[in-house]
Amino acid sequence: MSLGGSIKFVFLLLSFLLLSNFGKSQELVVNYYNQSCPQAEEIIKQQVFSLYQKHGNSAISWIRNLFHDCMVKSCDASLLLEMKNEEGVVISEMKSPRSFGIRNLKYVNKIKQVLENECPNTVSCADIMALAARDAIVLLGGLEMEMKTGRRDSKESYGEMVEEFIPNHNDSLSLVLSRFQDIGIDAEATVALLGAHSMGRVHCVNLVNRLYPTVDPTLDPNHALYLKKRCPNPNPDPKAVQYARNDLESPLVVDNNYYRNVLDHKALLLVDQQLGSSPITLPYVQQMASNNTYFLAQFARALLLLSENNPLTDDQGEIRKDCRRINK
Ligand code: HEM
Ligand SMILES: *[C@@H]1O[C@H](CO)[C@@H](O)[C@H](O)[C@H]1NC(C)=O
Ligand SMILES: *[C@@H]1O[C@H](CO)[C@@H](O)[C@H](O)[C@H]1NC(C)=O
Ligand SMILES: *[C@@H]1O[C@H](CO)[C@@H](O)[C@H](O)[C@H]1NC(C)=O
Repeated sequence: MSLGGSIKFVFLLLSFLLLSNFGKSQELVVNYYNQSCPQAEEIIKQQVFSLYQKHGNSAISWIRNLFHDCMVKSCDASLLLEMKNEEGVVISEMKSPRSFGIRNLKYVNKIKQVLENECPNTVSCADIMALAARDAIVLLGGLEMEMKTGRRDSKESYGEMVEEFIPNHNDSLSLVLSRFQDIGIDAEATVALLGAHSMGRVHCVNLVNRLYPTVDPTLDPNHALYLKKRCPNPNPDPKAVQYARNDLESPLVVDNNYYRNVLDHKALLLVDQQLGSSPITLPYVQQMASNNTYFLAQFARALLLLSENNPLTDDQGEIRKDCRRINK
């Protein structure tokens, strides 16, 4: 072996050892609460179900909320923190413009209370968010998933950094793909995750830039007329509850209608529509539009990737008692 060769070899060996050690201290496992709180997953599933029966859109919210939690640094329930700085001003990721429209966060604490009664100080808020999203997906027509647990809760809020991680509604496709790539989510999985936009609503503030002063040429003209009816004001009051549904046919089902809408130029956000005009993403859009089984499998794969982004484990973070506050 040449000198260069052996240096390369030693380097590879070292990186391997380092990586495998890091891997060990950062592992989530299936059934993490098996011993410490055997009923945890069942309790969460029941709670998600009863909330869904009362407020159907809570199921949709679990999915968006997990995205906003996991994408920003780590799946660590930092999204839920309402901290005060020294001047008494509330710092929260929810204050970022990217968090606009996030709803139903309060239900995490409802589930947390039931778990605290059953097994105090044991189940993290971060795991509740992840498992709730998993269970919600089944209620909305998605696949069952085996999801690892053992995430711990952050002691920090990343309120100042949200925009570095979560793209805007009108960002370029290359920016969107690179943000997801940064956390190990490939283009196919990114296309699948955006299928979450087959559910729920978009407020007019996130749409009007495609309608006024001129209609975005990538938007179907008839659909634009419909959207203008939903959003008649080019400068909507952000507080007004004016919105359009992502998927008129099945707003409460996770399905591949979203991709058919993209191909028909009826996607609502610019980031959605762009998936249909790039050679990187268009083949996935076409395949997902024509095969719901394939879409659902990719969606499940992608959601698991997202749910495992950079978790806090072992002695990192803490198990919060109240999901809105770090422990005293
Ligand atoms: C490029 C990435 C993304 C951008 C720019 C984005 C942006 C948005 C925007 C602007 C809304 C509308 C908010 C409103 O007006 O109320 C929305 C809604 C939603 N997003 Fe995303 N999103 C992205 C990715 C994702 C991902 C990865 C998921 C989940 C896997 C997701 C799940 C949802 C859901 C479920 C809604 C509907 C929420 C509701 O009806 O309450 N989004 N998104
Ligand atoms: C839970 O733990 C017990 C005892 O360690 C083990 O026998 C069982 O297989 C575990 N169950 C699961 C689903 O991991
Ligand atoms: C994206 O939309 C926002 C309003 O939501 C606007 O202020 C901004 O200029 C837009 N950016 C681009 C690149 O069009
Ligand atoms: C749809 O996708 C599934 C999963 O990838 C695959 O097994 C099946 O053959 C596909 N069906 C068609 C009609 O292409």
